[in-house]
Amino acid sequence: MEVVILPGAHQIGVLAADAIEALVRRKPHAVLGLATGSSPLPIYDELARRHEAEGLDFSQAQGFSLDEYVGLEPGHPESYREVIRREFTDRVNIAPENVHGPNGAAPDLEAACQEYEDAIKAAGGVDLQILGVGTDGHIGFNEPGSSLASRTRIKTLIEQTRKDNARFFDSIDDVPHHVVTQGLGTIMDARHVLLVATGAQKAQAVRDFVEGPVAAICAASVLQLHPHATILVDEAAASSLKLADYYRHTYDNKPEWQGL
Ligand code: GLP
Repeated sequence: MEVVILPGAHQIGVLAADAIEALVRRKPHAVLGLATGSSPLPIYDELARRHEAEGLDFSQAQGFSLDEYVGLEPGHPESYREVIRREFTDRVNIAPENVHGPNGAAPDLEAACQEYEDAIKAAGGVDLQILGVGTDGHIGFNEPGSSLASRTRIKTLIEQTRKDNARFFDSIDDVPHHVVTQGLGTIMDARHVLLVATGAQKAQAVRDFVEGPVAAICAASVLQLHPHATILVDEAAASSLKLADYYRHTYDNKPEWQGL
């Protein structure tokens, strides 16, 4: 796990976009794992800017979202399918048919989850997975207690997550209780995982998953077992890390050819 502490969200967006740009230039048909939430927005803004200003090309790329609410009507502006479309894929030239998400409106959710796993596999697996982290350490919607080996499935949100996400809805009563999410095992199959966390409200979760034990109570801690996990944090999100100085020293002295 590599922890990179940067001054703010803009610098995080630029560095993450560098890694994604390097990937799509090396492998134009790259498979990108896409995340919702506020944390990845600076990455999408920077990629959209590079597409617009520099012609960064996503025409052969594919995108797979992490998760989706269950029970929102199709086309609901806060459904993750719509959020990903609005915040990223409509702003670059990924073909709409190459953008996938778990289907939270399927009559048979279990079958839809299996189909989603199969679709990721058929695409060759995720090359680079963007992640945020919840205040309780969840990634995707893998709430505390999620099996570290889990695959795409239905989950029930804990109240804190519903509260955290209520800002996107008119009222907390509109936030669904159920979701479908890639499992931790699914996320661990991605070749490179890039997690972004900003703000003091994430400091405890960052401390727990980076430096605490690997345990289902903090789902993101499973990333300690990933061979290529990059954690991009701002100063506030890094403020509880014990080894912050070591991470800074390591990154400052990293040979440039290594990339992220
Ligand atoms: C939601 C999403 C997660 C995201 C989390 C944090 O729960 N399912 O993928 O990481 O929110 O969001 P934010 O980045 O807005 O804090």
